[in-house]
Amino acid sequence: MNLILMGLPGAGKGTQAEKINETYHIPHISTGDMFRLAIKEGTELGRKAKEYMDQGELVPDDVTIGIVKERLNKDDCKDGFLLDGFPRTIAQAKSLQSLLDEMNTSIDYCLHVDVPEENLVERLTGRRVCQTCGATYHVIYNPPEQEGICDNDGSKLIQREDDQADTVKNRLDVNMEQTKPLLDFYDNKGYLVTINGDQEIDHVFQDIQSAIEE
Ligand code: AP5
Ligand code: MG
Ligand code: ZN
Repeated sequence: MNLILMGLPGAGKGTQAEKINETYHIPHISTGDMFRLAIKEGTELGRKAKEYMDQGELVPDDVTIGIVKERLNKDDCKDGFLLDGFPRTIAQAKSLQSLLDEMNTSIDYCLHVDVPEENLVERLTGRRVCQTCGATYHVIYNPPEQEGICDNDGSKLIQREDDQADTVKNRLDVNMEQTKPLLDFYDNKGYLVTINGDQEIDHVFQDIQSAIEE
């Protein structure tokens, strides 16, 4: 099963990806996570990506497409994959299309996690993440058992740098502009499924399961 998770910043892509991965065991490929790892490791890719991410801008297409190509060519993607946060531009969508053609495969579903814009700022500014295992929490909607501590491994939770209120606004603006043409692109191909992301986390997941098991 080859899936794309699409949605504005804070819509719940990462949260749902964790659940999809646990249930269906397909690799979770998040370009945002890959960039954050590169930044942490201090690589050239990380240095380049950071410039854009800190401003809430998109990393240039050539860089982003390059890392996804490399990732999708790995063996663990042969039986399916879950893309989170990619593609985000029409150029990325077209490159993905040619790559999948070369691999003799295609997308099964593009799941659009749809959440009203006015909820997103609160979701992003209240998000806390574990730097050890990548788990995502929210101070109100999905709190850990012990404040500030990861349930899985006891690590200290941190706030993502681009979740500061001033960067959040630009991220939302940038992504809103790109989203509509992308949704049309996948709708025209018949892959698009809209999921109501404005419900409890487990209900959103149930709707995703119903959609992909149909
Ligand atoms: P990326 O890391 O992909 O960030 P994003 O798209 O802004 O999305 P987020 O990760 O912020 O949100 P999410 O949808 O995963 O929500 P989450 O599940 O965490 O990208 C970061 C940056 O990298 C970009 O800005 C760009 O610079 C660069 N980049 C990445 N991909 C790129 C690409 N393809 N091209 C170019 N540049 C790229 O949930 C958010 C919060 O809400 C959490 O606290 C969670 O607990 C809570 N929550 C989740 N679901 C619910 C619910 N149903 N109800 C209540 N709360 C909920
Ligand atoms: Mg995410
Ligand atoms: Zn953890």
